[in-house]
Amino acid sequence: MYSKIISTGGYLPKKILTNKDLEKKVDTTHEWILERTGIEQRHIADDKESTSSMATKAAEDALKNSNLKSVDIDLIIVATTTPDQIFPSTACIVQNNLNINAPAFDIQAACTGFIYALSVADNYIRTGFSKNILVIGAEKYSNLLDWSDRSTCVLFGDGAGAAILSANKDKGIISSLIHADGQYNDLLSVEKNHIKMKGNEVFKVAVNTLSNLVDETLTKNNLDKTDIDWLVPHQANLRIIKATAKKLSMPLERVVVTVNKHANTSAASIPLALNEAVRDGRIKEDQVILLEAFGSGFTWGSVLLRY
Ligand code: UT7
Repeated sequence: MYSKIISTGGYLPKKILTNKDLEKKVDTTHEWILERTGIEQRHIADDKESTSSMATKAAEDALKNSNLKSVDIDLIIVATTTPDQIFPSTACIVQNNLNINAPAFDIQAACTGFIYALSVADNYIRTGFSKNILVIGAEKYSNLLDWSDRSTCVLFGDGAGAAILSANKDKGIISSLIHADGQYNDLLSVEKNHIKMKGNEVFKVAVNTLSNLVDETLTKNNLDKTDIDWLVPHQANLRIIKATAKKLSMPLERVVVTVNKHANTSAASIPLALNEAVRDGRIKEDQVILLEAFGSGFTWGSVLLRY
């Protein structure tokens, strides 16, 4: 049995913070941010918005776009690094908000969270435990940022994306690969409630690791890079995205890019990008899609699917 993404949803807070706005907060420039990262703006949640409220809205959007009702969902998985509280899990808060009677749990794998969550969901569907799983990536990174640290505060944004996976006998997730290596944990971590990152070192490991991951995914599935129709990467930095696209010999027109508008929304970045390309009609039925991410831990992984 395959796990097929039957619908997607997304939510972005209304408030937009541009690079120009950030020039007033820290010693930076629009030009530096754009050139080094590709980011032009990010969405920032207001005080009333939480990770769970954004996750709920993205899930409602995905449900509305499906032919399912909330009673049909038999598992909820939320990937987040910024839960409302340590417990209850964000997934349980979403479960209550949506009045869904199903088990619910969170997954924490930083920016790779959504890939990990899809991998877990795929295994629940393959084993027959679940038929319809709601998978959400939701983050409120604005809470974790030191707004006086220019090396990190310009990089992140808030938002939530969701996908509903259903058991399908014909097509869906072809393979999911997840990895972790804890030896680099000092390069990217949260200390005293703020993100600390040695950006340049993370950058180098990310580019190399994602290049190897692309090879591993293609080899494992006996595919050639020309078989991939769309790359939907984690949105941390346009330069990292371009390096992965180059490795796949893919023109940027075949890559879903949202980092310019959303910045890095961690576990929410892939489902938000996927939702955008599905909803505007770029991603079409039967196409082969490669999702990939790299994040703190370090964690990294890919999901290859036939849409
Ligand atoms: O999603 C999880 C994984 N995370 C990532 O993949 C992020 C990976 N890293 C990156 O994306 C990039 O390393 C950054 C965008 C974070 C930084 O770009 P970089 O080209 O690696 O710059 P850098 O850290 O080497 O810094 C270059 C210079 C430094 O000044 P000096 O030492 O050369 O005088 C920084 O102090 O840029 C300076 N700088 C800034 N200047 C203006 C750092 N942040 C800023 C800023 N505005 N916001």
